[in-house]
Order: sequence, then C-alpha cells, then structure tokens
Amino acid sequence: MALAQYDINDSMTTDIKEIREDFPNLHVQVHGKPLVYLDNAATTFKPRPVIEAMAGYYQKYTSNVHRGIHELSEKATVAYETSRDKVRELINARESREIIFTRGTTESINLVAYSYGRHFLNKGDEILISEMEHHSNIVPWQILCEEKGCVLKIVPFNDLGELCYDEFERLLTSKTKLVSIVYVSNSLGTINPVHKIIQAAHQHHALVLVDAAQAVGHGPVDVQALDCDFLVFSGHKLFGPTGIGILYGKAEWLERMPPFHGGGDMISSVTFAKTTYAVLPYKFEAGTPNVAGAIGLGAAIDYVRSIGFDTITTQEKSLLAYGTKALQSVNGLRFIGTAKEKTAILSFILPGVHPHDIGTLVNEEGIAIRTGHHCTQPVMQHFGVPATSRASLAFYNTTEEIDRLVGALHKVREVFP
Ligand code: ALA
Repeated sequence: MALAQYDINDSMTTDIKEIREDFPNLHVQVHGKPLVYLDNAATTFKPRPVIEAMAGYYQKYTSNVHRGIHELSEKATVAYETSRDKVRELINARESREIIFTRGTTESINLVAYSYGRHFLNKGDEILISEMEHHSNIVPWQILCEEKGCVLKIVPFNDLGELCYDEFERLLTSKTKLVSIVYVSNSLGTINPVHKIIQAAHQHHALVLVDAAQAVGHGPVDVQALDCDFLVFSGHKLFGPTGIGILYGKAEWLERMPPFHGGGDMISSVTFAKTTYAVLPYKFEAGTPNVAGAIGLGAAIDYVRSIGFDTITTQEKSLLAYGTKALQSVNGLRFIGTAKEKTAILSFILPGVHPHDIGTLVNEEGIAIRTGHHCTQPVMQHFGVPATSRASLAFYNTTEEIDRLVGALHKVREVFP
C-alpha cells in the first residue's frame, strides 16, 4: 500500500499537526507502514523537551542529589527539587514536602500499604476497593489483609462498567478505615465520582487513596479540591519517563507514617544505638533516586501545561466520540466499558476471534493496541471474557488513525468471518 494513503489529511487541525512534530516516536514505521500508536494507557510517547531534558542531565550535569556541594550536584539537586515543585503545582498540593518520588504508581500504593497499613490498621479493620481496580490496587491490600487480619471489601460495577455507588455507600461503615479507588479505569475508561466518594468516606472517618495513573495526563487533578488523603500516579503515563512516579500524601499523614525503605538520604542521624529519620519528603526517598526521571517528569509537566488541559480534553473527547461510532461498523464488535463518564479508552471484543489474534493482525498493519486482561482480571471475570482488545487514545491521535484501526479490523473480520 502506498505510504501516501496514510498521510495525515487536511482535516487535522494545524495545532495537532504541530503537536505531533514534538513526538519523534509518532513518526516511525512498523511493517513498512507509518505507526498508529493506540496504546497510550500502557504508556505514552515522550515529547522532544522530555528527551532533551534527560539527555541534558546525562550529558552536562550527571551527579547525585543532596550529597555534594560541587557545582554539578548543586545543579542536579536544584533540577530535581524544581521538578518536585512542578508536580506540586500540577496537582495543587499545599506543600512540596507532600510530594514523594517513587518508581511508579505500583510502588506508591505499596508504600502506603506497607507504611500506613502496617502501622495504623488492625485486625477487623476494613479496606474498600472496587471491582475495576488494577492489580496494583488489589494485591498490596490482599498481602496486608493476610498479614494484619484486615478485611478487603469490593464495590461492584454494573454492566456498563459504572461503579455501583449505592453498594459503595452500603459497604462504607464505621469499620472502613481506608478506601482505595481508581480515578479512571485502565481497561474500561470509566471515570469514577471520586470527589463524592472521598466526601462520603470522610464522613465515616476513612482515609482515601486515589489511583490517578490514567487521570493525570488527561485532565486537571486538584488534590485540595478533591481532599484525598493520598493520590498516586506514574510519570510515563503523563508523557514523561518510565521508572518515576508520585505519591502525594497529606503532610499530617506522611509525618505520622514510618519509613518504607531504609538507607541513605532518608536519615537525620545514624548510630548503632538509634537512628532518626529525615524530614519529609526525604524520609520516604531512601537511596539514590531516579534523578533523570524526575527531571524528565518536570519537563513533561511543563509540556502538558503548555498544551493545556482544555486542548487535551477537547481533542480526546472528540476522538472518543469518533472512535465509538467508527468501531461499530465492524461486524459483531462489542464494547467492554460503556460508562456515561469515560475517557478515550475503547476496549472491545470480536466474538469468535481471540484478542491476541486481533492484536497480531492489526500489528501487521502498523497499529499498536493492547490485548489481554490489562492487569484487571476481575474486570474480565465480570464480563466473562479472558481478554479484550484495547485502543487507548491520547491528544496527539487523529481520526485518520482511528480509520486505520477500523480498516484493519475489517480485514480481521475477513480472516475470521
Ligand atoms: N497499566 C497499564 C495498562 O493499562 C500498563 O496498560
């Protein structure tokens, strides 16, 4: 097929054309065809400023942070701490010491389960999660419950993929000590009413952790307006690097929580008789941190803010509407996750075709989607399917790319009529 057929056509706004130029990875070829990248819920592409910021650190001021008074260490420390402040601004936290750098969402949740959970929760205390959680917001709580004798309660969702709010209210009791809830489902796209959930939980004196991994790159998140106690996300889903993530916690809780990891940089003084810990946020950042990752995340935040969430949400909403309609032309296609409030995630099945076959065939057309259980096996169990195919869109995607996916799915149907 001639490459010209895949050229971005004139219907795309100049803005999006320009934006696409910022992402080198959007311009690679796969199987001789221009790549269509529709796996943004797994990870997002990185704009040039992020790549350059990280290369700049490695090329010009590689050094450790908080450890030296030499020029390069000072520069790296300033860049690292400036990124922390950019995170604070992005999510509107009160103070920078409420922002802990971690390896990602998974580590952030494990930190809370380990530190808060083991210290503050006791036998019989209840932890509330939902049926649509990612495994990273299920397994740490199961481990904790097994160890401490706490009880994990699950809020179900309906067949549209919407949380059953009445059930949440029913399960919320004086025994509930923590609600840990996903903001946006990675496999369904559902946007949960987290503000309402937090208000209700607080009325029962339960804390709330919000898993915002799929939310932060797609719309504004304000921890003060939400009043959540913890909020976690990963850099790589926010157009930043892998291996860097965030735990936001209210200072009053982080102060009271014991360290997660012990080691360098998290101490105030060490003797064999007694060790005292550093102040926030360093108490939770043992060892040499991911300096380049933090600097890259800061650049990603600058980039996202320069595009603006108005542009991002408008573009993604219109892609969602277009994709929802366009995919329906594929014979037998059934969406998994049709909540009224959802982000640009299109999970679907084609009866009679295994999702892995779909993934393989569309890959031959140069199209990247994710197939599998998306680390949400209970969601698959709810719908009675082993896996789904998932196209997850970002603001740099186009309707032409969705058309390419639809064309490829029609071809899949020719192979599996
Ligand atoms: N949690 C990521 C996803 O949904 C990896 O694909």
